[in-house]
Amino acid sequence: MNYPEDFLNKIICGDSLDIMKKIPANTIDLVITSPPYNLKNSTGNGMKDGRGGKWKNASLVNGYSNYNDNIPHIEYVKWQRECLTEMYRVLKEDGAIFYNHKWRVQKGLLQDRQDIVKDFPVRQIIIWRRKGGINFNPGYFLPTYEVIYLIAKPKFRLAKKANAKGDVWDFTQEMKNPHPAPFPIALIDRIVKSTDAQNILDPFMGSGTTAVAAMGNQRSFIGIELSSEYCLMAEERIKRNKIDSEVFHLNEQLTLFEVSK
Ligand SMILES: C[S@@+](CC[C@H](N)C(=O)[O-])C[C@H]1O[C@@H](n2cnc3c(N)ncnc32)[C@H](O)[C@@H]1O
Repeated sequence: MNYPEDFLNKIICGDSLDIMKKIPANTIDLVITSPPYNLKNSTGNGMKDGRGGKWKNASLVNGYSNYNDNIPHIEYVKWQRECLTEMYRVLKEDGAIFYNHKWRVQKGLLQDRQDIVKDFPVRQIIIWRRKGGINFNPGYFLPTYEVIYLIAKPKFRLAKKANAKGDVWDFTQEMKNPHPAPFPIALIDRIVKSTDAQNILDPFMGSGTTAVAAMGNQRSFIGIELSSEYCLMAEERIKRNKIDSEVFHLNEQLTLFEVSK
């Protein structure tokens, strides 16, 4: 695969680590991503084995279409650190990664994600306050936020006036998207508008929210997603947004292709 022609404004169906390794260093302005959270590797609820239990109404109980979100914690951390290493390698010297994750309680103790981000240059943690959620555990309060780690190379700067915004962001989670764990488009739009990035990589693209937000702001995207079902979902969604709105500049470059492992 050649950069940029095989990457820019493409949805690439394949493994994020494999594909990122094909992107040259110092080429990407911005990464916005939300990896699988490994939610089914859990100590205390029915989500862990897919039976549902108290979580039977949560769409993530069924997992992702091509990925079961249940690997031993140590392996998960190692994998995510490898992914972050690749994201960091491809970034330009003034680039940054917005890495969304969720803290949770495991065996009665807070599992923050310090083990994943340790040694990466975390500049700030943005709190994404979401609505709703259910807490079946009487031992702690209902969790209502996720975090977005801003991992930045030294020369990264926000767009003009973006620094006036605070670091706690209120966005209701997306309800209409058939993907089990989509970003709200407004959240990603906020991130895109807060930078001058021209090309934006999402190595866990899901339903294509990052691509839609990038195109809506006349930026380019690179989307990587393991599940061909979600790749198609993203492709459809990008096309739909082109029809629905004048601001989306979908061009002929959008293609979907399988990358064999
Ligand atoms: C939290 S979801 C991302 C949702 C996305 N932000 C959206 O708005 O739709 C994580 C995605 O990572 C994908 N995934 C899991 N393992 C992957 C891998 N090895 N390479 C690429 N994508 C992967 C899953 O299929 C899932 O769609």
